[in-house]
Amino acid sequence: MGEREKLFRKGIADIKAYVPGKPMEDVMREFGLTEVVKLASNENPLGPSPKAVAAMKEALDSVNYYPDGACLALTQKLASKVNIDPDAIIFANGEDNIISLISKTFLNEGEEMIMADPSFSSFEISARAMGAKVVKVPVRTDFTTDLDAILEAMTEKTKLVFLCNPNNPTGTISTSSEVESFLNQLPDRVVVILDEAYKEFVDDPDYPEGLDYVRAGHNVIVSRTFSKVYGLAGIRVGYAIGHPQFIGGMKRIREAFATNRLAQIAALAALDDDEFLEKVIASNREGREYLYAEFERLGLPYVKSETNFMLVDTKKDIQQVFLDLQRHGIIVRPAHIWDMPTWARVSVGTREENEKFIRALEQVLA
Ligand SMILES: Cc1ncc(COP(=O)(O)O)c(C=O)c1O
Repeated sequence: MGEREKLFRKGIADIKAYVPGKPMEDVMREFGLTEVVKLASNENPLGPSPKAVAAMKEALDSVNYYPDGACLALTQKLASKVNIDPDAIIFANGEDNIISLISKTFLNEGEEMIMADPSFSSFEISARAMGAKVVKVPVRTDFTTDLDAILEAMTEKTKLVFLCNPNNPTGTISTSSEVESFLNQLPDRVVVILDEAYKEFVDDPDYPEGLDYVRAGHNVIVSRTFSKVYGLAGIRVGYAIGHPQFIGGMKRIREAFATNRLAQIAALAALDDDEFLEKVIASNREGREYLYAEFERLGLPYVKSETNFMLVDTKKDIQQVFLDLQRHGIIVRPAHIWDMPTWARVSVGTREENEKFIRALEQVLA
């Protein structure tokens, strides 16, 4: 440990920082490329919601003013759209910010947070930053989250469970009957976060509506984002919905202006952009089917996904494949970080991007 790192709060020096998808600019520079396809961060390949872009352009001249810290207009619009009490909603600077607010609001030092393994790494980082113990429960052999094992892993110190549904990076869902049975067996002192960042991409009719559990009075907080289906990852807007007492606690410690002015304006407009939403979902559905078919043709095992990404087994050292793909201008997410040394997580791109990826993969694996 560095001399100055000893000044940190306990545990901070041991945290491994979040590893984002490799930026396109880095790959262009390193390999002298002018064009790169990024399939590494589950971004929207169709761009941002056009309605959001138009609204932001109109609002550019007003960024000298602070945003509305309470996000009133956006909160009210969402509240009427999903039919929930506005006091049950909190907006922040992306869902990542929501995750960290939840850990800050609920976790005392020494308490436990349970998550699936693998799942979204921000859960772990935010909990460890609070001095909490992180308990990771391996997914089942079919890559689905093992809710029974999560129940078994609970102790009297368990405070939070981060349940990513659909799960990143597996792309799998927990069904309504699984989640219901899980919630019904949960002690009152435990709060469950249902991370629904990818909910709009789900086709499985057994996927639960997380808000029903909030309405039914469970200790559930649903968290969502405008980064994925609305294509607004770069502008940062996410939210949580839960009991007004939970949300009230989070609001006490939220930064005064967590959601910036353009983000609020963009999200407000995006909520009306059903046409774009449907286009994105349809394109993603088609892309998933294309990739499944190609992986089957190439004899590569993959995990069927309810999201805009999927895991595929390249059957070769993924760190090498990752490097070789970059030479072809393709960036994927190597899955060795989740102890899957031959697997990659690939975001679904446009038809053209998917085809380019498959051509490159075929050459790299040949
Ligand atoms: C499961 C999950 N939750 C939350 C997020 C964060 O979303 P945001 O861009 O709103 O911070 C991501 C982003 O990749 C994610 O995969």
